[in-house]
Amino acid sequence: MAIDAFGRRIDYLRISLTDRCNLRCVYCMPAAGVAWKDHDEILSLEEIERFAAIAVGEGISKIRLTGGEPLVRKGVVGHVRRLRALTGLEAIALTTNGTLLARYAAPLVEAGLTRVNISLDSLDPAVFERVTRGGKLADALAGLDAAFAAGMGPVKVNAVVVRGLDQDLLAFARLTLDRPVHVRFIEYMPVGGASEGGECEPAGEGWTRADHVSAEEILERLTAEGTAAGLGALEPVRRGDAPGGWGPARYYRYAGAPGTVGVITPLSHHFCGECNRLRLTADGRLRACLFSDEEIDVRSVLRGGTDADVRDLIRTALATKPESHSSRVGTARGMSQIGG
Ligand code: GTP
Ligand code: 5AD
Ligand code: SF4
Repeated sequence: MAIDAFGRRIDYLRISLTDRCNLRCVYCMPAAGVAWKDHDEILSLEEIERFAAIAVGEGISKIRLTGGEPLVRKGVVGHVRRLRALTGLEAIALTTNGTLLARYAAPLVEAGLTRVNISLDSLDPAVFERVTRGGKLADALAGLDAAFAAGMGPVKVNAVVVRGLDQDLLAFARLTLDRPVHVRFIEYMPVGGASEGGECEPAGEGWTRADHVSAEEILERLTAEGTAAGLGALEPVRRGDAPGGWGPARYYRYAGAPGTVGVITPLSHHFCGECNRLRLTADGRLRACLFSDEEIDVRSVLRGGTDADVRDLIRTALATKPESHSSRVGTARGMSQIGG
C-alpha cells in the first residue's frame, strides 16, 4: 500500500498517453497551439507499461489514461489490454474528448476498459465548435452513443463551466433523464502559463477570474431551472449510490433519473485532504500534485536504470507530495501536457 507523508493512501495513477490532441480547446491550449513534443521525448508504450507494473507493485490499483487526447495515440487498444493484465490492477479508465470514441468504444471494451469520462463543454454545435476551435459536436455525441452501445459504464460527461460561455446547464442535466449519464460540472481552473512561483494568467481567450462559476451557483441554477421545467429539485446522492469513481465529484440527481449530476470544486472546496493520485506526463515526468510544478524525471531512469531505481522515484514522489495546493492555483504547463 502506498501512503504519503500526510497519511493519504495513493492508489490512483493518471497517465497522459500523449500531449497531442485533435481539438484545441480554448482553455487548454494557447491559440497559437503548442509545439508537440518530439517522438523520443514521449515515453514509448513499453516504457509506460514497465512504469505501470512497478507502480502497481507499489500500491497503485487504478489507472486512468488521459491526454491530450489519448485515443490519438497509436496502439492504444493493445496498451489497454496489456495494462489490464497487470496483476493487482483493479480497473482502468479513460478520459477522452469522445470524438474518436465511435471507432474505439467496442475494441476498448473488448480489451478490458469500460469506464469512460467524456469532456464535452457545450451541447450547442456553434459553441462547441468555438470552444474546441473547430470540433464537431456530432462527433462527440456519436462517441457518447457508442460508449453505451459498446456496453461501457459508468459513462460520465465532464463540462467545464465558464461564465463567458453562457452554457445551458439544464440541457446537460437533461442528459441524465433517459440514460445513466453522469454529468459533472467542473469549476474552471485558471491553469497554464504560471510563472515560477507566481500567479498565472487564466488560459482561455480573454477569460478572467470573473469567469469562474462556483459549484454552489451551478447547483442553485440547476435547482431553479429544473423546478421551472418540472424536473423538481436536485437531491444529494449518497456515496454508496454514486457512480463509481476515484475522483472528488459530489453527486445529485433529479427524482427518478437514471443518471446523476455531479460537481467538481477544485477552487471553492479544495479536496487535497482526500487526494489519492499521482500523475505521469507523456514526456515521462512524475507529478505528485496537479498544481505543483515539481516534477520527477522518470524517463531517463526508465531508459537507463533498474526497476529498483524507478521504485525509488515513486517513493520520492510520495514522500514529497504536498499537503495541499494552498494559495497557488496554476501550472507552468498547460492541461494538455499534464492530462488534467
Ligand atoms: P472519476 O474517477 O470518474 O471520478 O474521474 P476523475 O474526476 O478522477 O477524472 P477526470 O479525468 O474526469 O477529471 C475530472 C476533473 O477533475 C478535471 O477537471 C480534472 O482536472 C480535475 N481534477 C482531477 N484531479 C484533480 C486534482 O488532483 N486536483 C485538482 N485541482 N483537480 C483535479
Ligand atoms: N479547468 C477545469 N477543468 C479543466 N480541464 C481541462 N482544463 C481545465 C481547466 N482549466 C478538464 C477537461 C477534462 C479534464 C481532464 O480536465 O475538460 O474533462
Ligand atoms: Fe484536447 Fe482535452 Fe485539451 Fe480539449 S481539454 S484541447 S479535448 S486535451
